[in-house]
Amino acid sequence: MSSGIISPPKETEQVVGKPINRVDGRLKIMGAACYAAEFEQENIAHAVLVQSTIAKGRIKDIETSEAEKAPGVLSILTHLNAPKLNQMKQGDMVKGALGEKFVPLQSDEVFYDGQHIGVVVAETLEQAKYAASLVRVTYEKHKPCIEIVPESPKAYQPKQFFGEELQVQRGDVTKAFATADVKIEQTYTTPIEHHNPMESLASIAVWNDNQLTIYDATQWVIGTRNVVAYTLGIPEESIRIISHFVGGGFGCKGFTWWHTILAAVAARVVRRPVKLMITRQQMFTSCGHRSLTIQQLALSATKDGKLTAIKHVTTSQTSEVDEFVEPCGLTTRMLYACPNLKVAHYLVQVNTGNPTPMRAPGEAPGMFALESGLDELAYELGIDPVELRMINHADVNPHTGKPWSSKYLKECYQLGAERFGWSRRNPTPGSMRDGDYLIGWGMATATYPGYRSPASAKAQLFADGRAVISSATHDLGTGTYTVMTQIAADALGLSVERIEFKLGESSMPPAPVAGGSQSAASVAPAVQGAAQELRSRVIRLAIDDESSPLYGVAQEAILTENGRVFLNNEPSRGETYAELLQRNNLPIVEVEAIANTAASESQQNSDNKVVRICVGKDENSDWQQYAFQSFGAQFAEVRVHPRLGQVRVTRFVSAIDVGRILNHKTARSQILGGITFGLGMALMEETVLDQQSGRLVVRNLADYHVPVQADVGDIDVLFIDKPDPHISIMGVRGVGEIGITGVAAAVANAIYHATGKRIRELPITPEKLL
Ligand code: MOS
Repeated sequence: MSSGIISPPKETEQVVGKPINRVDGRLKIMGAACYAAEFEQENIAHAVLVQSTIAKGRIKDIETSEAEKAPGVLSILTHLNAPKLNQMKQGDMVKGALGEKFVPLQSDEVFYDGQHIGVVVAETLEQAKYAASLVRVTYEKHKPCIEIVPESPKAYQPKQFFGEELQVQRGDVTKAFATADVKIEQTYTTPIEHHNPMESLASIAVWNDNQLTIYDATQWVIGTRNVVAYTLGIPEESIRIISHFVGGGFGCKGFTWWHTILAAVAARVVRRPVKLMITRQQMFTSCGHRSLTIQQLALSATKDGKLTAIKHVTTSQTSEVDEFVEPCGLTTRMLYACPNLKVAHYLVQVNTGNPTPMRAPGEAPGMFALESGLDELAYELGIDPVELRMINHADVNPHTGKPWSSKYLKECYQLGAERFGWSRRNPTPGSMRDGDYLIGWGMATATYPGYRSPASAKAQLFADGRAVISSATHDLGTGTYTVMTQIAADALGLSVERIEFKLGESSMPPAPVAGGSQSAASVAPAVQGAAQELRSRVIRLAIDDESSPLYGVAQEAILTENGRVFLNNEPSRGETYAELLQRNNLPIVEVEAIANTAASESQQNSDNKVVRICVGKDENSDWQQYAFQSFGAQFAEVRVHPRLGQVRVTRFVSAIDVGRILNHKTARSQILGGITFGLGMALMEETVLDQQSGRLVVRNLADYHVPVQADVGDIDVLFIDKPDPHISIMGVRGVGEIGITGVAAAVANAIYHATGKRIRELPITPEKLL
């Protein structure tokens, strides 16, 4: 460059934030993305589960002789001959979780309909199915307990939900209610719901001497590895769990379920790889569900709309085989500023499988009650529902007293209301019509915690100029492959096309369960940390290399872009990563990073590959000081036929604050999915049990209704897209579950506005409106 002002090249144009297409999209549309059940194995055998047909009792006799003679049968396992498995006990320090602690095939006891009582292994799937149909079971039937009522003598109070307090009191609720200007008190119920991801659960277990590989549909490869190791009594190092693609999880693949372990047991018995697939019917009993909830809610306020007391008492079901609580009141503790509060949770054991996290456990059903209640209160007070929420905005977390790491809820209300046209709403129920149809507009708040866990990632640069980044995280269809590739591209100075992000293997650097909407928040800083450190090493390599055009220059004068390292003010002076590595005879440069939420020094391990990164800027205490929570506002328009009771959600606006958006396309898709779940929850989804027998009446997608394309109207998703300055250097909380929260209430509130009918029992099916 001779003279004049040289405009320096921009620092690599950022890919993060761009709505790029899914990097795995091509594989998916070509059918080349391999899901758990699709891994080809030589000499594979097929296992089919035999499940109980009573909800409580004992197996008197299980007759397998006829089945054993059926063609192709290799083995039949029941409680009479199954190998012993280790039971996980409360307090066991296993970094993983079982959906049910009760170990199947170890005794004659039956605790619920659909409990695993046998495994049939045969040459082909058809032969295994046929043989399973020949297994004859006779039972001693006991009367199951299915129904729950609040204040049941059998109810007890669970203490915690993942460390969160479930029984909370603040101020004096009784006194506040006694002196309140306005009070509402109602009971809201939500039914049993099932996750029903498109991809059902499946496991392929392959033993190689004492090494076990399981191809599994899971949200937690590390957790599954650890649980399988514990139950089988073999070292964690001997097990590899592989889950490259997951066709939706929604919580039912978060904990490890017994079919995975039974597949490994069966494979060891028949000394062949074994594939075990959960059928759609078995999906209703083999991998958890959301419990029914009965929620008693009372709210009081002053005439000008200030909440004076909130009481939220939830009764839900757990099982006789483990404990899981649907934590409906957790959000109630902190959503609105209110001096007097009582939140309580009760559990009753029933004869079903164990409930498990599902699509915003707690928030989804809990906010149906709370946000319907707020709407009832708004009508009672004659205050606009958005205005009422503004009045009661919580400026700090009311439960912990901590300041928010960042909160843009008021902006969400404003943005959403504006886009929706809320100011044109006539609040009188039944006042908006379109021909025969009643039109209703309703809204609700959305919220979900900003979770984050320690995670790690490895970054490798190869001499051909390509990079591979890996982490034992997951992509449930949410976009992890894509956003992590974007982060690595920016941090490495490489184009997206030259980066391959690998995930879903337990042998990769550890990452947490893809649950609690925490994957992006947890894994992004690790990927960025590893990739940045790798780039620094490449730059130092150039500076120290006498043959490099950059020999001896100052590190600050160097930029990287598109796989090239060069001088900022003289871009032609530089070289490609490939040239640099090849000249130095380096086939690979590799860095591993651990991103932690806790205080930890930067450190390197002996082979100079691991870098520990402390995040939350660089103050070690950041994580403890703040309350991390995502917020949003949901606006729904419904169209109700007054004589048919048919409800259509014609329009939906969702304004969401989840910190920085890594990719607007994949983030938007997650919210679209969450809202679609919410529409199902509001209007369709319900699993029915026969009260006498305790058996499932609904156990397929013909009877368990989920929204299809035609059920989903126009959805507008708006993001605040401002980085959370405290959660991590990346500023990203998670998207995931927040989409469903508040949706059922927004729809129910819109239905009230349309019809004047307040429905407090989900799902809002047509007969409830007639
Ligand atoms: Mo989510 S229900 O934590 O997978």
